[in-house]
Amino acid sequence: MKVEPVARLDGHIAVPGDKSISHRALLIGSLCETEVLVRQWGRSGDTESTLAAVRTLGVDVDEQDVDTLVVRGRGLRGLVPVSDTNVYCGNAGTLARLLTGILAFQEGGKYVLTGDESLSRRPMSRVTEPLVQMGAAVSDTGGCLPLTIAGRRLEGIEYELPVASAQVKSALLLAGLGARGRTTVIEPTPTRDHTELMLEAAGATVRRKGRAISVESTEHLRLDQVLVPGDISSAAPFLVAAALLPGSSLTVHDLGLNPRRAGLLDVLQRMGVRVGIANKRRVAGELVGDVEVTGTHELVATRVDGPEVPALVDELPLVALLGAFAHGETVVSGAEELRAKESDRIDTVTNALRSIGVRIEPRPDGFVVRGTPARPRGGTIDAAGDHRIAMLGAVAGAVSREGVRLEGADSAGISFPGFFDLLASVSQ
Ligand code: S3P
Repeated sequence: MKVEPVARLDGHIAVPGDKSISHRALLIGSLCETEVLVRQWGRSGDTESTLAAVRTLGVDVDEQDVDTLVVRGRGLRGLVPVSDTNVYCGNAGTLARLLTGILAFQEGGKYVLTGDESLSRRPMSRVTEPLVQMGAAVSDTGGCLPLTIAGRRLEGIEYELPVASAQVKSALLLAGLGARGRTTVIEPTPTRDHTELMLEAAGATVRRKGRAISVESTEHLRLDQVLVPGDISSAAPFLVAAALLPGSSLTVHDLGLNPRRAGLLDVLQRMGVRVGIANKRRVAGELVGDVEVTGTHELVATRVDGPEVPALVDELPLVALLGAFAHGETVVSGAEELRAKESDRIDTVTNALRSIGVRIEPRPDGFVVRGTPARPRGGTIDAAGDHRIAMLGAVAGAVSREGVRLEGADSAGISFPGFFDLLASVSQ
């Protein structure tokens, strides 16, 4: 498809429910003893993979509406279908990692986890190795999917994460629910804590002390409702496009603002963008608010490094585009994890932005962008099968001089099926 240049973005929007929380609502909901009403569930390619997966495992989920689900939990140890079960995880890393932690303690269950081509290349040993230390019978294939799991009783451990990964942390905390004693995970840098917040809401004993998070062996989880806030990662392309187009004024309502996710807002402000936050409130432990961004001519370069990376890991491709318009050199470092995402995002971001005329250099752990306030020329961008690159390409087209021919635009549906319609609706 061709994305034409636009003058500015204007209006008030809401984006679908947060993908990370939507996965967790289904997975943790499945372990509850209650019926869990999930509202504002973010329906997307990835979360539909989780919906299909829990159904394969025998969980009854009633779709009352496109974004309202009732999950009839089967209890903490109730995901044990009578025969061996193949669970297909599609493109969804969060599903594959978190579900592995859950299935590892489903005593008597036997499972094989598979995924699409991209997910089958992504590292799984970061989850299987600590689970084996907990006594799990889990084996990967050369460090990747397919995974075979024979559920058994686990033992709590203390584990220092070698990478800052909320997916790995969550897999181990979920496994800890079904393990004897206490399971402690020590993070190198704080990462998103949606799992901790939802487990606490469900009655689990979760303790946080410095970089350590512990969960106690649990018998019962109960949740009545989960109200999912808007996904800041889905709002990000809109916020960035508005920031880059002077004259824009765009407000995103009911947006999740968990401080461990909202790093993009800090970066926008550092670069000179006016960001207004109104109506700040807490919904089931998660911070929510309305965010308004005003476009500017005067962006300044910034640096994003290690400790800040987890709070905007999925938004770093968009930071590269911000850097393309900023005065000076924008440097992202300590972000080698980008190489382990749906694509090698250091390479795919570099290729995408170079092909429209941006001066960007890849580094082993990030990239350097030399900015100029002029719009980039435009050209052809290949999404490389990666939803975040598809959305980056669309924003790049909107802020370019000649537009972008976007190959593989449909990848956006992995996290945000209505993305292009919403972009058109606020483009002037
Ligand atoms: C996610 C955590 C992040 C993020 C991914 C979703 C989650 O991955 O990139 O899109 O829901 O926990 P890592 O924790 O592996 O960095």
